[in-house]
Amino acid sequence: MKKLTALLLAGFMALSLAACGGTTSSGSSSESTEPESSSTASGETASAETASYEVTTVEPGVLTMSTNAAFPPYEMTTDDDSFEGIDVDMATEIAHRLGLELDIRNVDFDYALQMVQIGTSDIAMAGITITEDRLTNMDFSNTYANGVQVIIVPEDSDIAGPEDLAGKLIGVQTGTTGEMFCIDEFGSDAVNSNDNGMTAVSKLLNGQVDAVVIDNAPAQEFVASNPGLKILDTAYADEDYAIAVQKGNTQLLDAINSILADMEADGTTQAIIDKYINAG
Ligand code: ARG
Repeated sequence: MKKLTALLLAGFMALSLAACGGTTSSGSSSESTEPESSSTASGETASAETASYEVTTVEPGVLTMSTNAAFPPYEMTTDDDSFEGIDVDMATEIAHRLGLELDIRNVDFDYALQMVQIGTSDIAMAGITITEDRLTNMDFSNTYANGVQVIIVPEDSDIAGPEDLAGKLIGVQTGTTGEMFCIDEFGSDAVNSNDNGMTAVSKLLNGQVDAVVIDNAPAQEFVASNPGLKILDTAYADEDYAIAVQKGNTQLLDAINSILADMEADGTTQAIIDKYINAG
């Protein structure tokens, strides 16, 4: 907890100085190198990879993924109650290359993390940020995407940056890094925790909270679909997203890291991200 606080504060201070809501340039373990071509349609490449991995899963023949599908564009439900998003497409492809069927369990975010710890899911994939704290309870793959925490406010708000959040009520999602940061920085009385980010945004629209702190990608989606809100261009912390597995499950972790490297190299990862973020 202490280390996370330090990390987030460091990110916060660096970004306060730079005052730019930019992307990470100094990642930790892995760089997100741009593939030369991203013309590959997501999905059907590299069937040659299939069957070269031996992994034991919770349910034979199935890769069980726990998630919280209220986090666009990483995971969301469709009108017919199935799932879509970057994590969903990534996991579908990973399962395919492992020779497994993907089974998605949609639960609360904090429970999605617990499911890998107690062994009821094989992977948790939910735009999950690697933190020191979480690393003590689960293992993480190499990172496949980045995020930053941003602040959403009503267009006419007098809040112009993190320093103005003191004394305000901040909406967050339970169990997220945004929640941890705000509690550490402003105290739990200043924080209103919600089952999902959209609930926090609804409260912002109703005037029940003064701001929402959440990852930039869902923030963009929520603001685009809810007029009257804006995202401040001061960001909180650079974060690396990764896939969580049960602590010590190196068999699955190694297979996933190898597949992630292949997907990066053959353009699949970029194609999936472009499909949901850079489209058009
Ligand atoms: N990146 C943040 C974290 O790891 C938020 C993730 C929330 N994800 C979700 N699917 N609701 O804490």
